[in-house]
Amino acid sequence: MQLTTTITNLVLLFLSLLTIVSAAPLAELERRDVYTPPVLYPHAGTVWKIGNRHNVTWDVSDPPVNITNKIGFIVLRKGNLATNITLASGFNILQGRVEVTVPKVTPASDYSLVLFGDSGNFSPKFKITK
Ligand SMILES: *[C@@H]1O[C@H](CO)[C@@H](O)[C@H](O)[C@H]1NC(C)=O
Ligand SMILES: *[C@@H]1O[C@H](CO)[C@@H](O)[C@H](O)[C@H]1NC(C)=O
Ligand SMILES: *[C@@H]1O[C@H](CO)[C@@H](O)[C@H](O)[C@H]1NC(C)=O
Repeated sequence: MQLTTTITNLVLLFLSLLTIVSAAPLAELERRDVYTPPVLYPHAGTVWKIGNRHNVTWDVSDPPVNITNKIGFIVLRKGNLATNITLASGFNILQGRVEVTVPKVTPASDYSLVLFGDSGNFSPKFKITK
């Protein structure tokens, strides 16, 4: 009776070790496939005027082989809060740039952009003026 319990425990221990070992490479694979390229422009010091058009650019020099989601979108953020303003959507995350029009928002110097592919990537804060 006691021996059976010990064996069962050993089997369970062995199985859980096996799970940990086999889970590790999977996590690594998933991390590699999640692609969040860094935003290059706008950067700290950028000033955008409402109504002007600009190319938002991001680094595409090192994409993983398999990207889960290639379709990107860009959301405007103010302070630490996302706004409901989408500046661009439906573009290929691998193209490295997309042209946007500066929206009519309250002028401030704590705007930033969030580029979404698989997950979000923030730009530094920049300024929007009238
Ligand atoms: C954005 O980049 C494209 C390609 O380089 C260029 O043709 C276009 O004029 C640029 N747009 C702006 C607003 O600078
Ligand atoms: C990428 O996906 C293809 C097709 O699904 C697969 O054959 C290949 O092994 C994958 N490569 C990597 C590095 O995950
Ligand atoms: C976005 O939010 C503003 C207020 O913060 C609101 O006036 C506007 O209607 C919203 N727009 C959309 C498309 O939801």
